[in-house]
Amino acid sequence: MTPIVPPFPAARLRRLRRTAALRDLVQEHRLDVKNLIWPIFVTDVAGADVEVSSMPGVRRRTVEGAVRAAEEAARLGIPALCLFPYTDPATRTEGCEAAWSPENIANRAIRAIKAAVPGIAVMTDIALDPYNANGHDGLVRDGVILNDETVEALVRMAIVQAEAGADILGPSDMMDGRIGALRRALEAAGHRDVAILSYAAKYASAFYGPFRNAVGASGKLVGDKKTYQMNPGNADEALRCVARDLAEGADMVMVKPGMPYLDIARSVKEAFGAPTYAYQVSGEYAMLKAAVMNGWVKDEVILESLLAFRRAGCDGVLSYFAPEAARALAG
Ligand code: PBG
Repeated sequence: MTPIVPPFPAARLRRLRRTAALRDLVQEHRLDVKNLIWPIFVTDVAGADVEVSSMPGVRRRTVEGAVRAAEEAARLGIPALCLFPYTDPATRTEGCEAAWSPENIANRAIRAIKAAVPGIAVMTDIALDPYNANGHDGLVRDGVILNDETVEALVRMAIVQAEAGADILGPSDMMDGRIGALRRALEAAGHRDVAILSYAAKYASAFYGPFRNAVGASGKLVGDKKTYQMNPGNADEALRCVARDLAEGADMVMVKPGMPYLDIARSVKEAFGAPTYAYQVSGEYAMLKAAVMNGWVKDEVILESLLAFRRAGCDGVLSYFAPEAARALAG
């Protein structure tokens, strides 16, 4: 596209900025409540259903609280929730067996939400970290994150989540080959219509800090996640990851974190045209929230930041601001 701009004064670009009505007419991108996925934390640990200290305004919820969140989401028009479990730290093991228990907190929350608010899409997290004694997304042997053994565990986890009624599975683990393995296993088990939103381009980021606090993984994590999550210095590699995951059967793809990685979101959307999401992660939420709470910036930054994802080409955004943003959009 070659924009044609005649010389001044024929071109006065301010003409179309003069009134709100004119600005509305020429606005290129819009944020709608239907573009939002709301991540929530669920727990069955007594006393843990409290506000997350590093994420003011975000709390862990019981199964009952998660159902209330789903009802609120439905009222606000938010189409999907994404569930993350906080498990009893004492139950976390090296083998991560609780990850594929039909009775774990995540699966109980899925069933309760789908029973109470069937119209809400429930997205899950597929990774072992909430169940892992050492805080990693994969199984660990002698300090090494095992790829293929982890994929087998993730498949077991996914089938149980699909049986619980999940609409969208969210593999956030960054193991190689997991999308194909999940897709084959879902087909074989008759879960043909369960969608996969792959965390395809997920970077090893310090912006996940508050989340690890929310799911109780920060104290547990041994080392870092750099042998499986991407190097923030890489952009071409993100396209290879996304191409690979789409070829293996991902229905939608994600870039994560969000705001510092909008260049990646833009090139993913341009390269593949697939449903593309970004995750405005916990550290991004914490930064904006802290600045708003201190009066350093106006709360308008919330909608502005979410609109930026749309402008970058994202179909939607996972954001802890989802209910706040939905209310702001409504009025
Ligand atoms: C882990 C997982 C993480 C997030 C979602 N799933 C953290 C990590 O990779 O350490 C981060 C989300 C956020 O920061 O809001 N499987």
